[in-house]
Amino acid sequence: MHDYRNRIIQGDCLDVLKLITTGSVDLVVTSPPYDNLRSYNGYQFDVVQTAQALYRVVKDGGVVVWVVGDATLNGSETGSSFRQALAFMAIGWNLHDTMIFQKVNPIPQIYRKRYQNVFEYMFVFSKGRVATHHPILVDSLHAGLELNGTSYKNYSKHEQKREKRANPVKATKLKGNIWQYVVGKRKEDQEAKGHPAPFPCQLVRDHILSWSNEGDTVLDPFCGSGTTCKVAKELGRFYIGIEISDEYCQLAEGRVRQTSLFEVSSDSFP
Ligand SMILES: C[S@@+](CC[C@H](N)C(=O)[O-])C[C@H]1O[C@@H](n2cnc3c(N)ncnc32)[C@H](O)[C@@H]1O
Repeated sequence: MHDYRNRIIQGDCLDVLKLITTGSVDLVVTSPPYDNLRSYNGYQFDVVQTAQALYRVVKDGGVVVWVVGDATLNGSETGSSFRQALAFMAIGWNLHDTMIFQKVNPIPQIYRKRYQNVFEYMFVFSKGRVATHHPILVDSLHAGLELNGTSYKNYSKHEQKREKRANPVKATKLKGNIWQYVVGKRKEDQEAKGHPAPFPCQLVRDHILSWSNEGDTVLDPFCGSGTTCKVAKELGRFYIGIEISDEYCQLAEGRVRQTSLFEVSSDSFP
């Protein structure tokens, strides 16, 4: 096995993943080419084989963030997202959290008797119990307010009773699992021009900070314009990018080359 860290490798991810050492990856942040929504020159992928290959290379306690949405074909959503989540679970991945990526500025759609589609799923799969979580906190709406007691619901027990615990409301609270991002407008995201579906850098930043530590290895098997690799480098993680298109590999390499460690541009935070 070679050391592929800090490299973007051109090839089919199923071929390249075979060359990566078992249990060497801490975190995967990726988005597959789903539902032929964009042509990507006709490149395809096999979800079951990909989920199995990722299971081998990810460490125990490691996480895969799988960002995916559905096309609407002949009047029905395809359901690919759900099928992919179930395929991961059938292989042994935990479905740790079903998160939502909400687009603040969605592309307007032709009205077809349904509401504007404004989100994609971010399935967070874990290999066993999650090893690393650095939770993002946000300001509490009622910070400092004296209440009789705040109810906490325990979602991980059979009996989902509410418990009264805290008294004055704390200044911060755990961020919810619907994350909002502006798509394609920030300077750092405009660098990905030339790719039809790049991640917002901040989405990747939030996941890498949440699910990994400095010095960890972050993989994107469908790395496209290289957003995951760029942000991993910026945050002091090792990156491995796999991309089948030579054109996108060059775009990704250019973006990563221009990024220095911990270089967070001033317009990158909301
Ligand atoms: C949704 S895009 C990912 C975009 C990426 N998240 C970014 O920020 O630019 C999916 C990418 O997977 C690539 N791809 C498709 N099939 C592939 C395969 N079998 N192996 C590796 N890459 C593949 C496509 O060329 C495309 O760039």
